[in-house]
Amino acid sequence: MKQEWNPALYGQNARYVSQLGAPLLDLLDPRPGERILDLGCGDGVLTRELAERGALVVGVDSSPEMVQAARALGVDARVMDGEELTFDNEFDAVFSNAALHWMKRPDRVLAGVRRALKLGGRFVGEFGGRGNIETLLEAIQGALAERGLDFESLNPWYFPTAEEYRERLEAHGMEVTFCTLIPRPTPLETDLTGWLTVFAGSFLNALSPSERERFLQEVTDRCRNKLFDPDRGWWVDHVRLRFAAVKKGA
Ligand code: BEZ
Repeated sequence: MKQEWNPALYGQNARYVSQLGAPLLDLLDPRPGERILDLGCGDGVLTRELAERGALVVGVDSSPEMVQAARALGVDARVMDGEELTFDNEFDAVFSNAALHWMKRPDRVLAGVRRALKLGGRFVGEFGGRGNIETLLEAIQGALAERGLDFESLNPWYFPTAEEYRERLEAHGMEVTFCTLIPRPTPLETDLTGWLTVFAGSFLNALSPSERERFLQEVTDRCRNKLFDPDRGWWVDHVRLRFAAVKKGA
């Protein structure tokens, strides 16, 4: 089942994704005039910040709707599948925030990133690592099982350990300078139903419209004890896998 993207809903429910991207921009340390590829640029908010720091940025995303939103911000954005990158030895850095967990064939992604980078170019990114949204995953899995549906065949996400990702980076000729898991409990501006509506399309689209409402309610109820604080509202149990690597010679 396909995940669909709605930039307006994304903006309402997930603005934290770009707001919390500042430490990653600092790790990338973009310099004026560098050519940088933003892999999975989404609505382009963080891509624009890269451009404001003086870099010449190209954003790619598989969602035409998100690319349109990014272009509306003045970003040079193109529709491209992250597992099918077509660039060749042309970027000083590839940057990626909160996108790589949507690409379930990491070796295809890494082969394309390596090809896109100049020798000595940097690959800096952050995405969901092992343990990410564990409470939500258990709740979704339980609610699907009650409906006779298999979680794994619908699961759109890849959340590797730091060790696994480091090995993959190295296998693709990258020298890893940083690779670690960072727990980051994240408060939501709205609520869990809003978050699920934006991000859990692969599961919701497997259900009939009338069943979707019941499913959302059930997942929310299953998470309430762990992910709801009466004073501060809903939050999500994010774990980030943050890394930096450099393209070595063959
Ligand atoms: C994340 O940023 O970790 C994430 C966002 C949406 C769905 C799954 C994970």
